[in-house]
Amino acid sequence: MSANKTSIAGQSIRIGNVYFPKLPVILAPMEDITDPPFRKICREMGADWVYTEFISADGLIRDADKSLQKLDIYPEERPVSIQIFGSDAAAMEDAARLAQEKHPDFIDINFGCPVRKVASKGAGSGIMNDTPRMVQITERVVRAVDIPVTVKTRLGYDKNTKNIVDIAERLQDCGIAAIAIHGRTRCQLYRGNADWTLIGEVKSNPRMHIPVIGNGDIKDGAAALRAFDEYNVDGIMIGRAATGNPWIFKEVRHFLESGEKLPSPGIMEITEVCRRHVRMSAGWKGERTAVFEMRKHYCNYFRAIPNFKPYRIRLVTASSVSELEEILDEIEKTFC
Ligand SMILES: Cc1cc2nc3c(=O)[nH]c(=O)nc-3n(C[C@H](O)[C@H](O)[C@H](O)COP(=O)(O)O)c2cc1C
Repeated sequence: MSANKTSIAGQSIRIGNVYFPKLPVILAPMEDITDPPFRKICREMGADWVYTEFISADGLIRDADKSLQKLDIYPEERPVSIQIFGSDAAAMEDAARLAQEKHPDFIDINFGCPVRKVASKGAGSGIMNDTPRMVQITERVVRAVDIPVTVKTRLGYDKNTKNIVDIAERLQDCGIAAIAIHGRTRCQLYRGNADWTLIGEVKSNPRMHIPVIGNGDIKDGAAALRAFDEYNVDGIMIGRAATGNPWIFKEVRHFLESGEKLPSPGIMEITEVCRRHVRMSAGWKGERTAVFEMRKHYCNYFRAIPNFKPYRIRLVTASSVSELEEILDEIEKTFC
């Protein structure tokens, strides 16, 4: 046993038929990032649970291609949640039923997205100043499906209405199986630091009995340990720090178990994972979209490599998978 071994015990959690390891570390849903290829890679790296990107309830009902494609799940990804958003209870109910047909482990309701095109229509975190409607939508989604329903949300609408302690209780009463809380308000968007104190208050509320998952600004093992240790959450969720850095799940797990920092991956490992990611993405969503969306990942994939800028510029301007593969070959030769 390492002299640095951490002492937090943590409880194993179970949601429906899924048993999670102690101190579960979860990949946050992220639009245009957490597609099936990336979720698969994150699971291989140790993410204990993954979510789809958010999917519009209206889009699903209208049979919109983009929404339907987002329902795809690889068998290796499980446990996986399909996340849906919308402002209308009937549409959310129908969308939940459609999503259930894809056999995810859970359906997640997005009450957290602050993006204007979503929130201004009363969906995502735009609903956070209307608790009765949150309750109505949640009740109807829970009733519509046979699998566990979870919610991902924020602290409240703005700094004067941080009512997550009350909201969490009300949603628990609707029958949700777990709640994930991002420690910012809707109006904060992604500004400032995530405030974990209210997440801790939700967890310590004696009326709460469902798992509480904390989210916001976890970038390394030390931050993950603090989240479990100080706020006693049942799981932590990592978003931006996983973009182009699926190794974060290994690093965090290693730190939680040993208190020690894992060495960063070498260049060959990085290019290999990046290459697989590009290929799988092209296979799943087509070359053009894959090449475009992969641009969000390069900065992080190669963040530790000095003097990388000329290669990054080439990666983000490449227009085909074969061009990307050539650049990755060159990167290996240059930096190995
Ligand atoms: C590019 C991007 C896309 C996101 N898309 C979603 C989404 O589809 N559904 C959702 O619930 N949250 C979404 N989020 C919010 C994240 O899930 C997470 O709550 C937020 O980034 C805070 O966690 P972090 O500090 O670990 O990044 C998104 C965030 C980013 C940066």
